[in-house]
Amino acid sequence: MISVAIDGPSGAGKSSLAKRLAKELGYLYVDTGAMYRAIGLYAKRAGADTKNAAAVEALLPSIRLELKYVDGAQRVLLCGEDVSEAIRAEAIGMAASDVSAHPAVRAFLLDAQRNMALTHDLLMDGRDIGTVILPNATVKIFLTASPEARAKRRMLELRQKGQPADYETVLEDIRQRDWQDTHRETAPLKQAEDAVLVDTSELDLEESFAALKSLILSRVGQEKEKARRAEVR
Ligand code: DC
Repeated sequence: MISVAIDGPSGAGKSSLAKRLAKELGYLYVDTGAMYRAIGLYAKRAGADTKNAAAVEALLPSIRLELKYVDGAQRVLLCGEDVSEAIRAEAIGMAASDVSAHPAVRAFLLDAQRNMALTHDLLMDGRDIGTVILPNATVKIFLTASPEARAKRRMLELRQKGQPADYETVLEDIRQRDWQDTHRETAPLKQAEDAVLVDTSELDLEESFAALKSLILSRVGQEKEKARRAEVR
């Protein structure tokens, strides 16, 4: 099976690029952030303090999380309810970052994420895919951009959705989430040693897409060639 791991901070363009790349290359797209967001949403709805590990852990046995694919697009079902849109709210992003710091939450999602890679060629994006979830991924990419570039993109995105956003607030939110995601003890956001770093601060979406596509195709090609040679021997 081929697995492509894309990790990086929020707002680097991971999900829009990963979604498009998976479609183009014919792989399943798995957005692991959506799984943490669903748990964040559940905890918020239950009125729990998302920063409190014991409170969030106590909720896990009642959470039923499923990923469904409709016309190739991932949908997230939380106890049977499609929450794919609800999990996109800004507040839920922060709740997801909070709950993702708890080891019990990471353990809860680990097998489900690993098992998908056993049965599908896939492209999975998140924070710890190359370091923890799929340490033997065929291709590992660490996709990043400066906080300022990410804040600008996020602001435009929010405005396009008709949600007025202020640059300084968005930048502060990005900085806070970066700090939380890189400083937690369990599976913090960091570049895997064998991941290729791609910085999109100076690249537009098309340029980023082209860079990632050629990187993936060349790595997958090399792996296939290695496997073919091993077979001939
Ligand atoms: O990629 P995103 O913004 O949808 O992710 C939401 C939060 O979930 C993010 O702040 C950190 C967490 N997350 C994680 O810890 N590990 C992952 N593999 C994916 C997301």
